[in-house]
Amino acid sequence: MNKELEKKVADAIQDPKNVGEMPDADSVGTVGNSECGEMLRMWVKYKEQDGEKVIDKASFQSFGCETAIAVASLATELIKGKTASEAIELKPEELSGELGPLPPMKIHCAELVQGALRSALSPQSTEQENKPPAKLGNELSPTLQDSLSEGQSKSDGKLKIRFLEEED
Ligand code: FES
Repeated sequence: MNKELEKKVADAIQDPKNVGEMPDADSVGTVGNSECGEMLRMWVKYKEQDGEKVIDKASFQSFGCETAIAVASLATELIKGKTASEAIELKPEELSGELGPLPPMKIHCAELVQGALRSALSPQSTEQENKPPAKLGNELSPTLQDSLSEGQSKSDGKLKIRFLEEED
């Protein structure tokens, strides 16, 4: 990573925006990259604006990679006010826009954010299916880490983790 990008990533992760679970989210999506082990979960909440359903706010939880955290932070700000179909169209380089061009070895970090966003916004997923896990008593719903430690292959439909395909 070049020095300028390193500095921009460092600045972005010093004060990342919209980190954490969103208990009142309308949908949630989780993706993982099997190559580097990084995982990212995004929550989205909609609102009505001028007769359209637009993204009111978004948040994320991430493991590890600083570039993915920096891109996710930027992306959760960028998509505010957009419709789901507009946000789904955003390319990795648009999501990471403020950081400038990412080196080839870091492009998949932005693709991870794009994958989590698409998963959360996916029209195939009903809001009900995508609802964050219900709270049990006073316990918070599982965090990304809790979910992962339960096993990545959980297949009861509540946890939707999609591993991104590596591109050639
Ligand atoms: Fe894999 Fe960043 S190093 S997501």
